[in-house]
Amino acid sequence: MKKIVTLPGDGIGPEIMEAALNILEVASVGKFDYQIEEHAIGGDAIDSKGHPFPEITREACLKSDAILLGAIGGPKWEQAENTPEMGLLQMRKALGLFSNLRPIQLNETLINRSPLKAEIVKGTDMLIVRELTGGLYFGEPKWEQEDEALDTTHYTRKEVERIIHLAFQQAQNRKKHLTSVDKANVLSTSRLWRRIVNEIAPQYPDVRVEHLYIDAASMKLVTNPTDFDVVVTANLFGDILSDEASVITGSLGMMPSASLNEDGLGLYEPIHGSAPDIAGKNLANPMSMIYSITMMLRTSFEEFALAEKIEKAAETVMARGVMSKDMGGNESTESFTQAVITELRK
Ligand SMILES: NC(=O)c1ccc[n+]([C@@H]2O[C@H](COP(=O)([O-])OP(=O)(O)OC[C@H]3O[C@@H](n4cnc5c(N)ncnc54)[C@H](O)[C@@H]3O)[C@@H](O)[C@H]2O)c1
Repeated sequence: MKKIVTLPGDGIGPEIMEAALNILEVASVGKFDYQIEEHAIGGDAIDSKGHPFPEITREACLKSDAILLGAIGGPKWEQAENTPEMGLLQMRKALGLFSNLRPIQLNETLINRSPLKAEIVKGTDMLIVRELTGGLYFGEPKWEQEDEALDTTHYTRKEVERIIHLAFQQAQNRKKHLTSVDKANVLSTSRLWRRIVNEIAPQYPDVRVEHLYIDAASMKLVTNPTDFDVVVTANLFGDILSDEASVITGSLGMMPSASLNEDGLGLYEPIHGSAPDIAGKNLANPMSMIYSITMMLRTSFEEFALAEKIEKAAETVMARGVMSKDMGGNESTESFTQAVITELRK
């Protein structure tokens, strides 16, 4: 029996979590045995436990087989001493979630929602692998004075090696093309990064390796998105590049991500935030959470057939035009979820 810790969080987090878990429950009968343990995170945890990432949540996550997170944050906690967003960073560090995997796949039914021309975006299918616990966001020293401030970018060989190996392994299971993105013409951390990619590359002879500077990669992402398969990059570049890549598909409410640690523990979550503007209105698109669950089923549990079954049901429903408002449809969170459940039961 697999133990899944769920962290619904704030805003639309609990709504899409409930919808996606209802779908998992129906789809997994007789196929996949699991138990759910729910814990608080983010603003919800500040209100109930006085901290955005409480000790009890940390312990439960570390004892779990996989973690599902809804979303955190909202105007209510913006001035908190320890904000929900800080709780998220603390969680990544505490669980050793050093990698973030973000698949960017264009759904052909929704091709006209892309801000790019259909002929440019057609066939887009990439995976962005971002280093998550090093680099500029965590480097010390960092300080801020009235007229001067300092941040530090720091990477160790170990930090770079583990993310590069992971990226090569992902490329081996996909189209065997790895693009490493850096700024090696200016930054010494990037030169270390590039050296390590080249050192490791001979261990994966079936993978074609390409290096791109971050500025060139940002341009190529919108002019030739189909040229990419797996993209690996450092924390700051990955943060920006993965957001840029995710808008290509025109569907923020459909995008999942996975964060993995060295022991293979995975946290799966939508890429979007808590959407306070639509929270509590039964308007949220639960697809991002549904895809987070199918990513969990494949990555943490190797339940490929079950993941396929859930995605096929949801995509069949969407192909009929049954979609939430953000995708141009008329469905509420609940009615869309019900349509997927009905499809699963056919
Ligand atoms: N990992 C996370 O939990 C995470 C990530 C990003 C932002 N945040 C936090 O979320 C809060 C809100 O941030 P924001 O408004 O800038 O970004 P957001 O991603 O929450 O929302 C941006 C826009 O997309 C829409 N949207 C997002 N998800 C949707 C869905 N599933 N269905 C339909 N529409 C959807 C929202 O309604 C909004 O108009 C902030 O407190 C921010 O710090 C959290």
